[in-house]
Amino acid sequence: MKSIDINTLDISAPKLIGKQWMLITAGTPDKFNTMTASWGGIGFLWNRPVAYVFVRTNRHTAGFMNEQKKFTLSFMPESYRQDLIYCGRNSGRDVDKMANTSLKPMTTAAGNVAFEDAELVLECRTMFQTTLKEADFLDFSEVAPQWYDENNPMHVLYIAEIADTLVQD
Ligand SMILES: Cc1cc2nc3c(=O)[nH]c(=O)nc-3n(C[C@H](O)[C@H](O)[C@H](O)COP(=O)(O)O)c2cc1C
Repeated sequence: MKSIDINTLDISAPKLIGKQWMLITAGTPDKFNTMTASWGGIGFLWNRPVAYVFVRTNRHTAGFMNEQKKFTLSFMPESYRQDLIYCGRNSGRDVDKMANTSLKPMTTAAGNVAFEDAELVLECRTMFQTTLKEADFLDFSEVAPQWYDENNPMHVLYIAEIADTLVQD
């Protein structure tokens, strides 16, 4: 893959994240985890391009994100849809996602793990993270029944600088 200036990308973030979905990957080439995500955004903050993602506290991937303070977002072609569903329904605590999917991990020049065949990879360095709090919702009762209960804990919001943008050669 080759590195490009993110400003040359012509993308719709809601479509890219909400419809195509992404793999959030964190860890080291020897020990990493990946999960599917469809909530988040791409924007501009603190005078730099940023990505922000929402990861529930109980995700195995969250532990790797908290430890490494960086992660990648891989946007895969449609042919990987079943693998994204698998990585979104199973935890790396219980299964070997690499053995059970056709995803091929690769190490970027910066030493991060992403996936071969990705149409787009964003290499992210976490700058800010916070666990969403019930008290900060203007109307928590509107959101809670659908999204939060004893089995579905709060999300952590991670805001990360996009340090590099990779596309296929
Ligand atoms: C389409 C789709 C989108 C998802 N989006 C998110 C998300 O934005 N945040 C999140 O915490 N979990 C999301 N999930 C659920 C996680 O991918 C799922 O819990 C996964 O098994 C976590 O894996 P892990 O425990 O190995 O980290 C999504 C699942 C699917 C199928």
